[in-house]
Amino acid sequence: MIYEPKTFSEFVGNQRIVNHLSRLIKAAKKSEKPLKNLGFYGYAGTGKTLLAEVVANEYGALYQYFNSGAIRNFSTFCLNLFEVCRDHCQVSIRDSEDKIKKQTKGKPIISLLDEVHSMSMGVQDEFLSLLNDGTATIRQGRKIRTGKVPFEITFILATDRQYKLSEAIRRRVEPIYFEPYSEAELAHIAEQFVKRSGFKINDETSQLIAQRSTSAGRCVSVCRTCIEYVISQDGDGVDKTCADSVFEAMGIDDAGFTENEKRVLRAIHTNGGVAPIKAIAVMSQIPMQEIESRIEPAMLQKDLIRVSSGGRELTPKGLKAIGVDVSGGLLV
Ligand SMILES: Nc1ncnc2c1ncn2[C@@H]1O[C@H](COP(=O)(O)OP(=O)(O)O)[C@@H](O)[C@H]1O
Ligand SMILES: [Mg+2]
Repeated sequence: MIYEPKTFSEFVGNQRIVNHLSRLIKAAKKSEKPLKNLGFYGYAGTGKTLLAEVVANEYGALYQYFNSGAIRNFSTFCLNLFEVCRDHCQVSIRDSEDKIKKQTKGKPIISLLDEVHSMSMGVQDEFLSLLNDGTATIRQGRKIRTGKVPFEITFILATDRQYKLSEAIRRRVEPIYFEPYSEAELAHIAEQFVKRSGFKINDETSQLIAQRSTSAGRCVSVCRTCIEYVISQDGDGVDKTCADSVFEAMGIDDAGFTENEKRVLRAIHTNGGVAPIKAIAVMSQIPMQEIESRIEPAMLQKDLIRVSSGGRELTPKGLKAIGVDVSGGLLV
């Protein structure tokens, strides 16, 4: 059985956020008011998606996951969501208002709009009233219905690109900023993941995995593959040799850089140390979308590149990663 954290106490790191959310949930339960809408912002692999599910679990809420890029039509989205809510609260459209009120009370629902930056501006606009006061306008053919949504839905909007959200949307959610994990926290995540999946791991190996994975996402996927290797050899634990071969298979070098990251760095270097993202895509032959969504966030976080007016610029650390010697001292 592969392990996934389910509770606040199992969630490693970001304790400031966990404590805050835990208080908000307690307050919501005591005051019998739904939890407010939240914005989860932070780099990829900082645990946003995971924590949304943990929040739902701790709150005793029904959890509904949506990939925002797939929400093309707001009315269809609402119809789908409300159908699940009706099932959960055991009400039907034909029930009286009194019955609906009684049945929906105290049955919280957490709806995660994941990667919410990929929602079109048009859909974002239609969302506003739902975030504002829980009302929605639904179009079905020629029929238009406007009204208050009776369910206790809390929306969590998660993204690593909050700047792509409209100002109006951002103002309507409470922002929660996720910090990248420290190496010690990543080691803890690796250790917890392997042990709770029923395998052994020593401190040296979990630290090695942490050093070479720069996000929790990679840390967990390396551990998952290590476990598969161990199972294939009828072993009982993940050791250094096993971790080494997984990193090698994944194309991650000793310093934790992938081949794609190095291609991006070399492209910028060839261009004179700074390059617009389009030029980087052409020179590295990696699709721009792939660079923007997966490679760049990790590189910014690792301080290999920074955003500058000329596009993306190499940092001394980035230069070092591709073997360019940056000597200090006086230039005379
Ligand atoms: N604090 C944590 N403790 C344990 N596992 C974690 C933690 N944070 C993230 N993970 C794991 O790392 C992976 C990436 O996390 P995820 O929630 O998808 O990040 P994000 O949504 O911010 O990109 C998931 O498999 C998740 O279970
Ligand atoms: Mg996510």
